[in-house]
Amino acid sequence: MTQDTREEKMQVGGPRHHRPVRSFVLRAGRLTEGQQRALKELWPLYGVEAGENELDPGSLFGNDRPLIMEIGFGNGEATWQMAINEPDRNFLGVEVHKPGVGHLLLKIEEHGISNLRIACEDAVELLGRRIPDRALSGVRIYFPDPWPKKRHHKRRIVQQPFVDLLARKMKADGILHLATDWEPYAEHMLGVLNASTAFENQSQHGEACTRPEWRPETKYEKRGERLGHGVYDLVFRRLPDGERRE
Ligand SMILES: C[S@@+](CC[C@H](N)C(=O)[O-])C[C@H]1O[C@@H](n2cnc3c(N)ncnc32)[C@H](O)[C@@H]1O
Repeated sequence: MTQDTREEKMQVGGPRHHRPVRSFVLRAGRLTEGQQRALKELWPLYGVEAGENELDPGSLFGNDRPLIMEIGFGNGEATWQMAINEPDRNFLGVEVHKPGVGHLLLKIEEHGISNLRIACEDAVELLGRRIPDRALSGVRIYFPDPWPKKRHHKRRIVQQPFVDLLARKMKADGILHLATDWEPYAEHMLGVLNASTAFENQSQHGEACTRPEWRPETKYEKRGERLGHGVYDLVFRRLPDGERRE
């Protein structure tokens, strides 16, 4: 029996056996000594402890600046640069891969960054359970796992229920920014978002656009470029409730 079939079987079992389909597979990655130290010494300063309690962004950052959430930051190469380049915003980076979390903690220390906090848990669950409604001024998801095989498409993070959840958690006029190097995933994302009444495509032609200059290049993006892939940025505005499309 393949892993896939096993998971499907578990879901058929009903609520007692229900396991959500996740957008990631946790792989044990090796931590460098620096990352181990960061997780021990810097996590208590910049990490958001896993838990069930609703987060209060004001007390997390000590101010009420607009909050941007980045989902799946990888090694955080774009994250720390955005936090430096946009000092009047707060950033909450979410990533399940511990070496990436350690890497980003080291960057926070190296650059003395004060407007960035890190959560190390499933971003979908964190959004649903711990982020207050209308709390986010922006959500950024760069090069999410494309799950190219058809039987894995259900693992793609950008799906209608997830987009509905984002709509609930984002403020009116908040910006949802996605990027991918996998054209079929870009098409899938466009399909899902164009079908949502809560979001409006900011590109003139209702399609993907080129990378805005302010978005730093990410590690996965560079890998995609080496493989000859294109890069597709998608920028959508969360419409105020009164302006939702029919
Ligand atoms: C292909 S990598 C891209 C990383 C980075 N954004 C970049 O462009 O270099 C996707 C990342 O998303 C993370 N991820 C996927 N689903 C997630 C979720 N539900 N919550 C948190 N992180 C997630 C994975 O662990 C992985 O590191």
